[in-house]
Amino acid sequence: MGSKGFPQDHHVKDLALSGRGRQRIAWADRQMPVLRQIRGRFVKEKPLRGLKVGACLHVTAETANLLITLKAGGAEIALCASNPLSTQDDVAATLVQDHNLPTYAIKGEDQATYYSHLQAVLNTRPQFTMDDGCDLVSMLHTEKQGLLKGVFGGTEETTTGVIRLRAMVKKNALKYPVIAVNEAMTKHFFDNRYGTGQSTLDGIMRATNVLFAGSSVVVCGYGWCGKGVAMRAKGMGAQVIVTEVDHIRALEAVMDGFRVMPVEEAAKLGDVFITVTGNKHVLRREHFSIMKDGAIIANAGHFNVEIDIPALAKNAVARQTVRDYVESFRLKDGRTLYLVADGRLVNLSAAEGHSAGVMDMSFANQALSAEYLVKNRGKLKKEVYVVPEHIDREIARLKLASLGIVIDSLTDEQRSYADSWEEGT
Ligand code: NAI
Repeated sequence: MGSKGFPQDHHVKDLALSGRGRQRIAWADRQMPVLRQIRGRFVKEKPLRGLKVGACLHVTAETANLLITLKAGGAEIALCASNPLSTQDDVAATLVQDHNLPTYAIKGEDQATYYSHLQAVLNTRPQFTMDDGCDLVSMLHTEKQGLLKGVFGGTEETTTGVIRLRAMVKKNALKYPVIAVNEAMTKHFFDNRYGTGQSTLDGIMRATNVLFAGSSVVVCGYGWCGKGVAMRAKGMGAQVIVTEVDHIRALEAVMDGFRVMPVEEAAKLGDVFITVTGNKHVLRREHFSIMKDGAIIANAGHFNVEIDIPALAKNAVARQTVRDYVESFRLKDGRTLYLVADGRLVNLSAAEGHSAGVMDMSFANQALSAEYLVKNRGKLKKEVYVVPEHIDREIARLKLASLGIVIDSLTDEQRSYADSWEEGT
């Protein structure tokens, strides 16, 4: 595969890091039994034979195991990062060194490099996109339209990407079918909730070493991710306040035992703020102006727009890095606010992202959705599809089996009772 601009078919930090990456990938693999089983079958059946995949994903050890699985199924893959700060440089090196996989990703890459990496992947002329946040698909549908003809399908990993794809469908802009992996129950019930819940706190703790017990933690957004973050912060002894714009989600937060209030009020009370809405400027100037001195602000939503960082910077008289991934903003009135990881996904920037045990299911969905799209090539409309239910259920079955958990099955009598309507009291 060739790519313009990067003559060596890769652009990673340092190939010498590959030893550590190899260990990380193997460690993650041990916790990914479902994906391993799929890989075992893919090796034999080669369902993705010859498929050229352009992948834009967080370059982590778990992603490496997904790509190794796709390769085992016969795919050729080129990879770039779906976020400038989430790349594990050692894993990127291993993908190039051990797996001969064209990889374009460097942790901390600037905006221009980030987009040049997306271009490099598209220059390999993929037939299939595997995206996380829809940046690759957006570029393909705007500045690289000429390549669209060769693409027959794709998958999307996250909520924000699915929202962008649905907006494209509304405007008749999407040119091939995409499976919304995020919408699988075995993805968002687990990855978004338990994965983001644990790893977001992990990222904030690694960056700041803050004590959650007794702190007031404000979680903005009570969707799948927000529920996980709030639940885990509560478990660590924090007093959790939730802010929402959706009445049902707000009610759910109330009944789950959290305080719910407008962000204007929460802004005065929080020691730690975590945005996870997928929306823009959820924390902004008027909130910064009333936050406590020393408040810590972090984001776990997909893009770094949830916190209005330009407004924060504009109001600061001094700005400096005080620890790895922590920047202080001294405001005109003397208060200092701390921003974690540039307002980018804190769990992937300041920690290692989700645990492999949960990515096992998300990436099983990716692998099986790719196989499904290959089998159904040319039969689907230019729309956003959910993961077929039989795939979702099979992943849950395999995951339970890997955990050694056996459940009941319906008796014949129960099955016919459930299928009937005549029987009453
Ligand atoms: P979701 O749609 O289930 O929840 C988002 C919630 O935010 C909704 O309840 C919505 O009403 C609320 N919201 C929107 N605007 C708001 C505002 N101004 N103030 C308060 N609440 C507001 O989405 P989900 O799955 O929880 O994802 C949230 C974000 O996290 C997305 O950007 C998604 O892509 C990202 N994500 C991040 C992960 C990570 O590893 N950090 C993993 C999975 C998703």
